[in-house]
Amino acid sequence: MLLPNYAEARKRTKNNATKEFYNRNSEFCNLGLGKKYFVKTYGCQMNEHDTENIKAILDDLGFTETDNYTNADLVLLNTCSIRENAHNKAFGMLGRLKHIKQLNHNLIVGLCGCMAQEEVVIDEILKKYKWVDFIFGTHNIHRLPYILNDFLSVGKQRIEVYSREGNIVEGIPVKRENKFKAYVNIMYGCDKFCTYCIVPYTRGKQRSRIKDDIINEINDLIKNGYQEVTLLGQNVNAYGKDFSYDYNLENLLEDVAKTGIPRIRFMTSHPWDFTDGMLNVIKKYKNIMPSIHLPVQSGSSKILKLMGRRYTKEEYIKLFDKIKKIPNVSVSTDIIVGFPNETEDDFNETIDLVNYCKFDNAFTFIFSPRIGTPASKLEDLTTLEEKEKRLYTLNEIVNKYFLENNQKMIGKIVKVLVDGISDKKGMLCGYTETNKLINFIGDEALIGKIVEVQVTDAKTWSLDGKLI
Ligand code: SAH
Ligand code: SF4
Ligand code: F3S
Repeated sequence: MLLPNYAEARKRTKNNATKEFYNRNSEFCNLGLGKKYFVKTYGCQMNEHDTENIKAILDDLGFTETDNYTNADLVLLNTCSIRENAHNKAFGMLGRLKHIKQLNHNLIVGLCGCMAQEEVVIDEILKKYKWVDFIFGTHNIHRLPYILNDFLSVGKQRIEVYSREGNIVEGIPVKRENKFKAYVNIMYGCDKFCTYCIVPYTRGKQRSRIKDDIINEINDLIKNGYQEVTLLGQNVNAYGKDFSYDYNLENLLEDVAKTGIPRIRFMTSHPWDFTDGMLNVIKKYKNIMPSIHLPVQSGSSKILKLMGRRYTKEEYIKLFDKIKKIPNVSVSTDIIVGFPNETEDDFNETIDLVNYCKFDNAFTFIFSPRIGTPASKLEDLTTLEEKEKRLYTLNEIVNKYFLENNQKMIGKIVKVLVDGISDKKGMLCGYTETNKLINFIGDEALIGKIVEVQVTDAKTWSLDGKLI
């Protein structure tokens, strides 16, 4: 058993990440023969992309995928630790699986992802969930075949979680969910240590993938007809800071743009590392989408300082104004309300900032204390009721701006990558360059293509349009 250790997870060394290749061991290729698997994913795009790797590994071991966990032979939960409700959802699912396992003793249950990196979670599993069969963490997805093989041959609970990041592992197979939009990791981990956030502990030190590996992956995607890539990292603006040579996100964006892939997105950008050079590259290349996710977290400089965000409200606004100079750009954000010591005045400063920025989209959250983070130890006198009231007030205002911004689009002709059949009957849906959802009538043959659509109507969360 290899258990997670927070003191280790917090450590950062100057050593640069080294690279290793995924070792496909053909000895294991029949491990899952005749067995069906189901993977449930919680959390961010990074986790969704990890699931794409995990599924490909399971396929490679001879398993087949099922979309119904009640008839699966193996259920794996790829978990998220970011807020308590993500945590509760995973434990709720474990509760349901316990019942199924009581009826079907052969069911194999596994847990991976960010929660596997948490000491408190593993403690609880060791005490109350002894029937969970295998656990691995975010740093050793490539070890899945060995872990499963060990569990299947010994039949005892197998826990293998590395507390510290290891090498960057290239060449892990991938089973992409989408045939024309792809996630591409450009870096792993985060060194920002915002005081509320658990990610630097669950994902380890910031490590960038080298340019050639990224560009080769994108060139392969282009060959396979992919139209869009989203470059992923917890803080993509810090890309390359761990290299011993000069190569940063500005350079990478330019090199990715030159591959000619029709659409490039990237997330998430921390305001601290956003450079003018990046802005120039985004303006210069038509295939870099004018859609920036720029989490602000709070409009109060006092709270930002307590959060360890390293910028003030004024600095954020200055950067925001610069970004807004990109033609037709859309800006989205993340906001936390109810951070410890947030007063009514601090909250009103957040509202002022929202009234100034009029974001195109915003993900809003109530602060959730995460064990092991500095903010979880701060005294917090605001009641949950008050926090819920703030969230409600904030949501009313952000929603108003979503609608207003969408209404400004009416009459405009926009380029849309057609995603699929819309929830609205008889319609297709897709995303504009600025990442707005749009529904319109069209032939299914257009799925996966970029088309022009005229906006005819606007709602808070979506647009309606007419194919040109
Ligand atoms: N790396 C990204 C964000 C990753 S987490 C960034 O730095 O912007 C996504 C969002 O979850 C964060 O932007 C933040 O708004 C929210 N979040 C993170 N930790 C949280 C916590 N403890 N409580 C509430 N929201 C949190
Ligand atoms: Fe968390 Fe901050 Fe890193 Fe984002 S930048 S992942 S919020 S520590
Ligand atoms: Fe959650 Fe881990 Fe992503 S905590 S948000 S799955 S990096």
